[in-house]
Amino acid sequence: MSPIEPWGTKSEGEGSGAKPEFPGRRSFIAVLMAAGAALVGAVLAIPLVRFAFYPVLAQTSKTSWSNLGPLKDFQSLTEPERRIVKVTEVDGWLESASRKAVYVTKGTRKGALQGIEVLSAICPHLGCEVAWNAGEGRFLCPCHGSVFAPDGARISGPAPRGMDTLPVKASSGKLQVRYEYFRELVPDKEVMG
Ligand code: FES
Repeated sequence: MSPIEPWGTKSEGEGSGAKPEFPGRRSFIAVLMAAGAALVGAVLAIPLVRFAFYPVLAQTSKTSWSNLGPLKDFQSLTEPERRIVKVTEVDGWLESASRKAVYVTKGTRKGALQGIEVLSAICPHLGCEVAWNAGEGRFLCPCHGSVFAPDGARISGPAPRGMDTLPVKASSGKLQVRYEYFRELVPDKEVMG
């Protein structure tokens, strides 16, 4: 007959045939589970991160081609003609439409179409709207007095370059333009998107 042992003196599993579990194995399983959970979390987070950063990564403005009228109508221009184009702008999640002034004129700069150019009316100095002055036969900026020739070339004033030309093309006999924004205060034309 074996002597009676006091309560609590047997270790867990003793006498039942089960082997004691090593603490190292438990912590390894815990680390494995944590790593798996972290991996699943990271995979699920990718679409959320892309969603959150879309406004930062996406282009800030988008424009489509706008019709200006039959191309042949502009081939007999005697002075620049003002037109308005509709521009859709995206700022983060906000999409808005605005209207911008352009001038169709005769010119031979790069991108001209059959001797026709379309100029942005935005002054490359500080962004005021340049106006055609028929009496003087040139463009005048009302803000700081820059002066431009009928083809947009700079004549005088603080503007660092001539008026900017916009992309043009012909489609089904119509003159089309795509509006763009340009960096101000720099000597060379630089598209800002
Ligand atoms: S904004 Fe046109 S000259 Fe300054």
